[in-house]
Amino acid sequence: MTTASPAPADSGGASSPLSVLDATGAPTSHGVGRAGGKTILMGEHAVVYGRPALAVPVRSFEVVATAERTAGRGMLRSALYTGPLENAPARLLPTVTAVTATLEALGSPGAVDVRVRSDIPAERGVGSSAAVAAAVVAAVASAHGRALHPDERFALVQAAERAAHGSPSGLDARTVVADGPVWFDGGAATDVAVARGFWLVVADTGVKGRTREAVAGVRARRADDPAGTDALIETLGDLAIVARDALGAGDLHTVGEAMREAHAGLGALGVGDPALDHLVTAARAAGALGAKLTGGGRGGCVVTLASDAAQAERIAGALRVAGAAAAWTTEVEENQ
Ligand code: MEV
Repeated sequence: MTTASPAPADSGGASSPLSVLDATGAPTSHGVGRAGGKTILMGEHAVVYGRPALAVPVRSFEVVATAERTAGRGMLRSALYTGPLENAPARLLPTVTAVTATLEALGSPGAVDVRVRSDIPAERGVGSSAAVAAAVVAAVASAHGRALHPDERFALVQAAERAAHGSPSGLDARTVVADGPVWFDGGAATDVAVARGFWLVVADTGVKGRTREAVAGVRARRADDPAGTDALIETLGDLAIVARDALGAGDLHTVGEAMREAHAGLGALGVGDPALDHLVTAARAAGALGAKLTGGGRGGCVVTLASDAAQAERIAGALRVAGAAAAWTTEVEENQ
C-alpha cells in the first residue's frame, strides 16, 4: 500500500459515491469522482513500445470532480476555465473528452454540470491529465447512478488521454486509480511485491514537461535510427524488470542502480533536460539511493529513492535548496 505525506482526507480512488440518496431514498443526480497523482519509477517511454513499466500512485495529490445532471447547457467549472463545455479552451480538450465520452458510453442521457478541483501540478509528469479524466469519468457516471467496471473507466480515461498526448500507453490511466505500486505490461496492471518499504521524493524542476512532444521526439528518433532507439527501449524495459525483481527481494540498492542507468538511457533517448540532470545530481549528493527523471521528461519532475522517512526529508530539503520548485515525499509500504 502507498501512503503519502500529507495524506488527503479521502483517497478512495476514482469512483467514490456512485449515487447519493436524497431524504426520500431516491437517487439524486449528484456524482463525485476522485483520483490521485502518480510517479513512474521505471519504464516511461519504453512502455509506449510495449515494454513493461513500474509506477507508484502519489496520494499527496488529489483531484475531486463533481457532476450534476442538468436540463440546461453542459458546463465545466475549474480553476482554468468556467463556462459552457463546448466553449472550453483547446487545452481542456482532454477534460471535455472525458465528459463527452462518458455521456456517450451512458447512452447520451443529457447534459451535465461538472466541477473540477485539482491540486496536481499540470504538465509536470505526475499524472495530472489522467487523474482529472479519471475523476471526471467517475463523477459523470456516478451522477447517473452507474458504477463503471475498471476496464470501462480505463477505456474512457484513455479516450481523454489520447486528446492530451496522442498515443498514451495506459500506464498513467491505470496508476492514478491504483492503491499501490503498479506493474504495467501489455495494457494490464498488476500489483508489485515490495519486500522492504521505501520512500520516494518527487521534485519539480519548475520547467514544464511536454509529454506529447517528448513522445513524438522518441518516435522521430526511432524513424531516424530504428536499431539504436530500439536498443535503448529494450534496455529501459529490462531495467524495469530488474527494479521490480529487486523490490520483491528487498534490494533497494539494485533498484537505485537501475534508476541511475534508466536516467542515462532516457537522456540518450532525447527526453532529458539540464534542469532534470541538476536535480538528479543534487539528490545523489544528498544520499539518494537512486534518482532519475520521471514521466515524459524534457522538464517536469525527478523521482528519487530513499530508504526511510528521515532520508526522504533530507533529500527533499536538499532538492529545494538546489532550486526545485516543489518536492513531495511518498511512502511505499512493505506488502509481503
Ligand atoms: C507519461 O507519463 C509516460 C510516457 O511513457 C507516455 C505514456 O506512457 O503514455 C512518456
